[in-house]
Amino acid sequence: MRLAERVNPWLRRVPVAPLYWIALFPAVIWFGLALANRLGADPVRALEHEYGLRALQFLVAALAVTPLRELTGVSLLRFRRFLGLTAFSYALLHLLVWLVLDRQLDWPRIAEDLARRPYVVLGMAAFVMLVPLAATSTDRALRRLGPGRWRRVHRLAYPATALAALHFVWLVKAWPPEPLLYALAVATLLAWRAAGVLRRRAPRIAAG
Ligand code: HEM
Repeated sequence: MRLAERVNPWLRRVPVAPLYWIALFPAVIWFGLALANRLGADPVRALEHEYGLRALQFLVAALAVTPLRELTGVSLLRFRRFLGLTAFSYALLHLLVWLVLDRQLDWPRIAEDLARRPYVVLGMAAFVMLVPLAATSTDRALRRLGPGRWRRVHRLAYPATALAALHFVWLVKAWPPEPLLYALAVATLLAWRAAGVLRRRAPRIAAG
């Protein structure tokens, strides 16, 4: 029996709502550990790291849904909204930790970071792109926008994830493998998507 035939019926029975709680529960634990000063020498930085990394992982997972279905037939489409919203929640927490705990709402310093550190600008641009995605993630928004416009808005997930991966590569001073591996994964997923678009367009172009 093919993997997809075995896995898909089981996946269809998995309730989505509890997954949000399960996925966001570690955020509460990390916050508690940071408050208790049990997240290492620099708890704020550790918290920033955990939230940022989780945001990127959920973005990559959301991007992998279509290639996974095309390659194996395993469909995680039901979970894509959950993956995207969880990525957004972690990105928001990551931003809030930076604004409130790291920069302590010191607006001139925040403005200076935005002006002088390209990786902060990249992170901010990624986050700004995620906002309309999160805001239009409901069924009501889909009905209001119509499928065409909704899909166009949700294409922002691709540049947002690319910018987030670049943000991670840019901020490291040495060249540890982790950011590069994420960048490679994102580049592969984007190339897959671009190849899919070209494949679909080719017959139309050939037909004139
Ligand atoms: C989609 C949005 C974002 C994602 C996925 C993301 C992801 C990440 C990741 C993976 C790291 C590396 C964590 C580490 O190894 O320490 C990081 C670090 C960082 N991010 Fe983001 N980020 C995002 C948005 C932002 C935004 C909006 C800001 C602020 C404007 C920001 C500021 C920072 C800073 C300052 C660090 C460095 C923390 C340190 O000093 O180690 N990020 N981010």
